[in-house]
Amino acid sequence: MCRICKSFYIFSDFFCELSLFINWLIISAATLFCCHQFSVTGNNNRDRLALLDIKAKIPDDPLGVISSWNDSHHFCEWTGVICGRRHQRVTALHLNDSKLTGILSPHLGNLSFLQQISLQNNRFGGTIPQEISRLHRLVGKIPPTLGSLSRLRYLYLTRNKLTGDIPSSLGNLSSLLELHIAENNLVGRIPEWLGKLRNLTILVLEGNKFSGRVPPSIFNLSSLTHLSLARNDLEGELPSYLGNTLPRLRWFSIHNNLFTGHIPHSISNSSNLEFLDLSVNNLYGQVPSLHNLLRLSHFVLYNNSLGLNKAGDLNFVSSLPNATNLKWLQLSDNNFKGTFPRIICAFSSLTFLTLGNNNFAGEIPNCIMNLAKLQVFTVSNNRLAGVIPQGIGKLQNIISLHSKRNQFSGVIPPSIGNLTKLSSFSLPNNSIEGQIPATLGNCRSLIRLDLSNNKLNGTIPSQLFNLPSMSIILNLSGNHLTGSLPEEVGQLKNLDSLDVSHNMISGHIPSSLGSCESLEFLYMQENNFRGTIPGALKTLKGLLWLDLSHNNLEGDVPTGGVFNNATGVLITGNNRLCGGIPELKLPRCKLSRNTKKTRLEHREKLTIAILSVLFGVTLLVALLVSLYRLRKRERTKETTIYGVK
Ligand SMILES: *[C@@H]1O[C@H](CO)[C@@H](O)[C@H](O)[C@H]1NC(C)=O
Ligand SMILES: *[C@@H]1O[C@H](CO)[C@@H](O)[C@H](O)[C@H]1NC(C)=O
Ligand SMILES: *[C@@H]1O[C@H](CO)[C@@H](O)[C@H](O)[C@H]1NC(C)=O
Ligand SMILES: *[C@@H]1O[C@H](CO)[C@@H](O)[C@H](O)[C@H]1NC(C)=O
Ligand SMILES: *[C@@H]1O[C@H](CO)[C@@H](O)[C@H](O)[C@H]1NC(C)=O
Ligand SMILES: *[C@@H]1O[C@H](CO)[C@@H](O)[C@H](O)[C@H]1NC(C)=O
Ligand SMILES: *[C@@H]1O[C@H](CO)[C@@H](O)[C@H](O)[C@H]1NC(C)=O
Repeated sequence: MCRICKSFYIFSDFFCELSLFINWLIISAATLFCCHQFSVTGNNNRDRLALLDIKAKIPDDPLGVISSWNDSHHFCEWTGVICGRRHQRVTALHLNDSKLTGILSPHLGNLSFLQQISLQNNRFGGTIPQEISRLHRLVGKIPPTLGSLSRLRYLYLTRNKLTGDIPSSLGNLSSLLELHIAENNLVGRIPEWLGKLRNLTILVLEGNKFSGRVPPSIFNLSSLTHLSLARNDLEGELPSYLGNTLPRLRWFSIHNNLFTGHIPHSISNSSNLEFLDLSVNNLYGQVPSLHNLLRLSHFVLYNNSLGLNKAGDLNFVSSLPNATNLKWLQLSDNNFKGTFPRIICAFSSLTFLTLGNNNFAGEIPNCIMNLAKLQVFTVSNNRLAGVIPQGIGKLQNIISLHSKRNQFSGVIPPSIGNLTKLSSFSLPNNSIEGQIPATLGNCRSLIRLDLSNNKLNGTIPSQLFNLPSMSIILNLSGNHLTGSLPEEVGQLKNLDSLDVSHNMISGHIPSSLGSCESLEFLYMQENNFRGTIPGALKTLKGLLWLDLSHNNLEGDVPTGGVFNNATGVLITGNNRLCGGIPELKLPRCKLSRNTKKTRLEHREKLTIAILSVLFGVTLLVALLVSLYRLRKRERTKETTIYGVK
């Protein structure tokens, strides 16, 4: 029923509805039109102002190309300006062969729909304004005409959206010293003729989509100091003579490609190499001796199939010269077999040492403590055994320490507490025993701690919870931990995930957990927790997963918060849980003894109250009645007296 029109009796209801509908249509259309018009005009004007500023920076225009740019016509009709048909924004600017003299206005960067710009054969001076870099639609191929710049020495085209291949005309740039075309979308093969540019010292083609084999001529460019082919789809083998034909090479990077075959023995003859990154390829076989690479600082081999999974695989490590320059040694995800090479302790500049996912066995020697600059040390998924060396506490700069799935035994050395920069520490799936050292509470930078699936026993030291930095995960699951979960756990205000499952933890679930505001995942299953589920848990707004199954919990399951999501709460295998939302299919809660008692108390109080009121009323009535009688008797007395009068 149309209420607004009710007062206008003339209209029947139907016409009333209709007229309102039409009005609504008109208003909506007008609004749409108006806003559209406004936005178009706004951006249009931006283009117009930009063009006028471009014009203002070009004082000399002998052919009268831009002098005709004025408001007597829409700017889309100005000479050399092309607009998109629909949105009326400038998409192309053709001012080539116009004998213009001036500078390029930075307002060029305001033509945000510009896809093409041609300015050749003019007399522009000054610099190309950096605002042009805002024009993300200006893409295309590398212009073949660049090849005519026969004296060009440096060409930087990195980080654009260039497509297509490298035009063959660039083969004419015989003076070129540096060619940087990293981070584009170039495709096709790397051209053979690049090998003709004999003066090239730097060739950076990384981060494109080049495919196929690298032409051998590239590896013949003997002046090269930097060759980066990383992050493409290149395949084939590295030529055996590589190190002999590229003697000046300091930087060689081919990571994230499809290269196969061996690392050529000649690599050691490229004695200037500082950065050698062959990671994430399909290289295999033995790593050759590297005895000449005195300057090597980054040696990165991870994610290949290197090593033959037999003794001798690690000889190359000993071949590394005393290597005071070696900072990165990354050998993870290969087939290296052998004991932890003691010589590594002599690489005193080492900051990054990753050995994970290989077949390393034996112990980590205590001399590891000599690596005072070490920041990242990972040995996960090997067969390393023995104890964690006490000397580890001397690695003052360590940030990340990972040894997942090895066979380490013994205790976590208390000296670990000296590592104040340690932010990620994981030792899951070993055979670590003893107590969790309370000194871990001194590692003020810890954001992640994973000690799961070991043989740790004793109670959880409350110091562990006094680490506000702890934010990603605290995982102590799958140990033999006893005692209760300390109330201090509530101090972990930034923690996402807490896992104490599969232990022998007893006592009540601390209601202080309600203060762990960031918790998303809470695993407490398979312990001996008893008592009721604290209602405080429902205040955790971000909690997605709560597993309390297989404990000795009893009583009322709260409702609200995570408890309202039957798929996010696991509570099976407890004693006498009841209530909760119906989806949990728990029995309804009988009145607990406590509740009964209170109810009883209430009833008693009520009875007493009623009785006392009744008593009071009876008393009052009795009083009134006797008063009345008294009065009456006195009055009769008086009458008799008066009567006597
Ligand atoms: C504006 O440009 C038109 C050509 O587009 C030209 O005929 C006219 O003279 C110009 N007006 C002024 C004031 O320059
Ligand atoms: C146009 O570009 C200039 C120079 O970058 C800038 O100062 C100006 O604010 C821009 N104008 C608009 C309307 O964006
Ligand atoms: C390279 O330069 C030569 C001679 O300067 C010229 O004839 C040839 O066309 C150029 N090649 C390309 C592809 O531009
Ligand atoms: C590399 O250079 C050597 C000697 O300069 C030459 O014999 C060989 O043909 C070149 N190979 C390629 C593929 O250009
Ligand atoms: C390394 O260079 C030396 C000297 O030029 C040469 O004798 C040796 O054969 C080269 N090694 C390899 C593996 O090519
Ligand atoms: C390595 O060090 C030892 C002794 O510290 C020295 O005799 C040897 O020459 C050094 N080797 C290299 C390649 O620097
Ligand atoms: C390292 O920790 C141990 C045990 O916690 C302590 O005795 C030692 O003094 C500490 N060393 C340094 C260098 O801080």
